[in-house]
Order: sequence, then structure tokens, then C-alpha cells
Amino acid sequence: MGYKTLCFGFSCILFAYCFYSPIPENIEEPWKVRYVDTLIKLASHMATLLENIGLMKYERIFSTVTSLFITQAVSDENITVIDTDFSNIPVRLYLPKRKSERKRPAVIVIHGGIFVFGSCKVTDHDILNRLTSNKLGAVVVGIEYRLAPEYPFPAALEDCVQVTKFFLQENILAKYRVDPSRVCIMGDSSGGTLAAAVTQLLRDDPEFKNRIKAQALIYPGLQLIDTSLPSHREYEHGPILHREMMIKVASLYVSRDSSLIQALLRNEHMPEESRHLFKFVNWSHFLPEKYKKSHVYTEPVLGKLNVSYPALMDTRLFPLLVNDSRLQNLPLTYILTCEHDLLRDDSFIYIARLKNVGVQVIHDHLEEGFHGALSFTTGSVALQLGCKIRNKYIHWLEENL
Ligand SMILES: *[C@@H]1O[C@H](CO)[C@@H](O)[C@H](O)[C@H]1NC(C)=O
Ligand SMILES: *[C@@H]1O[C@H](CO)[C@@H](O)[C@H](O)[C@H]1NC(C)=O
Ligand SMILES: *[C@@H]1O[C@H](CO)[C@@H](O)[C@H](O)[C@H]1NC(C)=O
Ligand SMILES: *[C@@H]1O[C@H](CO)[C@@H](O)[C@H](O)[C@H]1NC(C)=O
Repeated sequence: MGYKTLCFGFSCILFAYCFYSPIPENIEEPWKVRYVDTLIKLASHMATLLENIGLMKYERIFSTVTSLFITQAVSDENITVIDTDFSNIPVRLYLPKRKSERKRPAVIVIHGGIFVFGSCKVTDHDILNRLTSNKLGAVVVGIEYRLAPEYPFPAALEDCVQVTKFFLQENILAKYRVDPSRVCIMGDSSGGTLAAAVTQLLRDDPEFKNRIKAQALIYPGLQLIDTSLPSHREYEHGPILHREMMIKVASLYVSRDSSLIQALLRNEHMPEESRHLFKFVNWSHFLPEKYKKSHVYTEPVLGKLNVSYPALMDTRLFPLLVNDSRLQNLPLTYILTCEHDLLRDDSFIYIARLKNVGVQVIHDHLEEGFHGALSFTTGSVALQLGCKIRNKYIHWLEENL
């Protein structure tokens, strides 16, 4: 039996194994979703294999794939697109060409990628930002923040805060003809984590209080102190975002220490002195009854990890950990959640807590939705769901910004 036959056989088994894994019934375009999900699982298996034989770090495969989708800054008949720096941090700007009497709204966009990969320049974000700029006549700022593990926490957040503060200066807003009362900040997935944290920090800064009109969070991750919420349990195997992959990659934002990954997977990573934080993420208290199902709340096991990671208790990493007084007076908030998403409950808890303190929240929930779909809106793997999410978000902006 030849080498090729062996390889072919191996591929068939792997594909069969991946395709066998069931996806939720109400998902549209099931075969396309299975295909994308399979590719991601294969990439993850491959990355584990390559890491085990010492050829390549697990996370490299994801950043390599990202780099294939980087676009150039190309202007078109409606928009001038430029790559520049704000306060030494690279940004991509989308500036409408159309003359307008009124000053323009603006959207600051923070891309996802579990803090380790992604770019504001990848195809799907480029399309999203063009569309936003076109539909709203808005200035759009994509932030090319630093990534882990080269730049761990709080590098990404610091870059996003710095760009936002730079852009909000009176003379800069005036330069781009932006209306200071119409600035929104948006992020998807880990970009949503960063957007929520930036919004909280600006709210606490006397100079920047009330300068953001709205925040838009698309299936954001908002905590990792409890990795056993009902949505973590139900959607451990995806589609698209898998618990083990997410934890392996996300932990790199905190540390390269692999014992942290194991502890996170077991939900035994938090220290004794973090006990007071669990009331902020207690799903048994905040989750709507419908989503609790038969899940039983278990108190987390604390103090098992003998290494201390202060980042894990830092509200700048996990926006859900701030107390109620720091949630008060946050700006108008749009949150889009997907049912089949292991990060779903983070948002449900945040929404409940924001509403409790009187923050105005608009919530779109897609019963047929799953995590990451906004990154599949073009090319052979374009998903109807991705376009639906994009359109819902842009429609909300048109009505509210
Ligand atoms: C430019 O704007 C017009 C009017 O909104 C639209 O029909 C056209 O498709 C836009 N062009 C591009 C390249 O997006
Ligand atoms: C979580 O909520 C449940 C029920 O609301 C309560 O019994 C439990 O003590 C809470 N645990 C923490 C750590 O807040
Ligand atoms: C942490 O615990 C492990 C075993 O559980 C031990 O091998 C290691 O030396 C400990 N590290 C520190 C810094 O105490
Ligand atoms: C909330 O947190 C802030 C800072 O993190 C602290 O100054 C304040 O006292 C806290 N408020 C309450 C009610 O615990």
C-alpha cells in the first residue's frame, strides 16, 4: 500500500469524523456550516500535531490563515481608504467622499480574533467598514492593535484606549468633520470584550465621560472567571468556536504557561481572593429561566493554581467584573447574541446587569445564530447568517447613531 493511499485513507477518516459531529437543527445552510466547522477543527488538530512535534506553536496556524485575507487600502468612488497612525498605533480610516452639510457620525471598530489573530484589514472587516461608511456617511476607524502572545494583556486594550482618546480630541474630530455627539464604538467577539472595556474606562475618565454615544457588541466574550456557564457546556463543540480551542488561544493573552490552559479547562484557575467576583457572573442568578434548562450551578473550585495571574481578576480584561456603580451611566448599548454560541451567557448576564442599573440596552438574539458568522460574508464560504448579522447591526446604527 502506497504512501498516497495511506494519506487518502487518513484524510477520509478525519473528514468522516468531523462531518459526523452533529450541528444544531435550526442552522441555515447546514452543509456549508459543517464544511467551515470541519476546516476549523482540522486546522486545530493540525496545529496541535505540529506543536506536539515541536514544529510550530499552536496559535501560529490561525495567524497564518488571517494573513491570507489581508486587503490593501483601496479607495473607491464613494470612500477614501487610508492606512495611517493614531498616536503611533496603526489604523485604517474609511472617509466618505460625498459632500455633506451635516457633520458625519463615526464608528470605531475593534476586530475579533481571541486577542491573538485577526486584523482590521481582513476582507470581511474591510467590507463591513465600507458598508458602514457608505450607508451612514460615517467615518470608520479600524484599529490595528497589538496581538498576543507577543504582546500580552493589557497591550491590546491600551492600544484601543489610546486610539479612541486620540480620535476624540476636538481638533481630530474637526479634521474629519465628525459630529462629536455621534461617535459609536463597536467590536465583535474579543473585539467586543475590548469595546466594552474601553467604554467602561472612558466612562470613568472625567475628560472623556459621555463622549461615546453608543457601544455595539457583537457576540462579545465578557469574562473567563467561570468557564462552565450553561452555554459553555452546551456549545463546547461549536459550531465554529470550540471551548478547548478558545481557551488555548485566549489564555495566551494572559500567559504562555500551559498549566493555565489546563486549569481553565477544568474551571479551577481562580485564586481564593477572587471569591467576591463570582456574584457578578452568577448565571443561576442572572440567566433568563428559559436558558437555565436543567443545568445546576456549582461553586467554582478556588485556589488550586499555585501561580498567580492578576490579569484574571482585572476588570480591564473582563468587563463583567465591575461593580454596579461602574455600570451606571454607560451609554446606549446594542448587543447581538447567537443561540449556538459558547459565549452567549456572558452577554445575557451583562444585559441583565446593565438593565438593573438603568442602562438602555437593545438586544438582538438570533435563535439560528452561531459565533463568528460575521467573519463569513464573502467568497466561497459566505454565509447568509453572516450577512444577516451585518445588516442587523448596520440597520441599528442607521436608526440610532
Ligand atoms: C457608491 O454609492 C452608490 C450610492 O449609494 C452605490 O450605488 C454604489 O454601489 C457605491 N459604490 C461602491 C463601490 O460601493
Ligand atoms: C449564585 O446564585 C445562587 C442562586 O441565586 C445562590 O444560591 C449562590 O449562592 C450564588 N453563588 C455565588 C457565588 O454568588
Ligand atoms: C505548583 O504546583 C506543582 C504541582 O502541583 C509543583 O510541581 C510546582 O512546583 C508548584 N509551583 C510553585 C511555583 O509553587
Ligand atoms: C465599585 O468599584 C470602585 C472601583 O473599582 C470602588 O471605588 C467603589 O467603591 C465600588 N463601589 C461599590 C458599591 O462597591
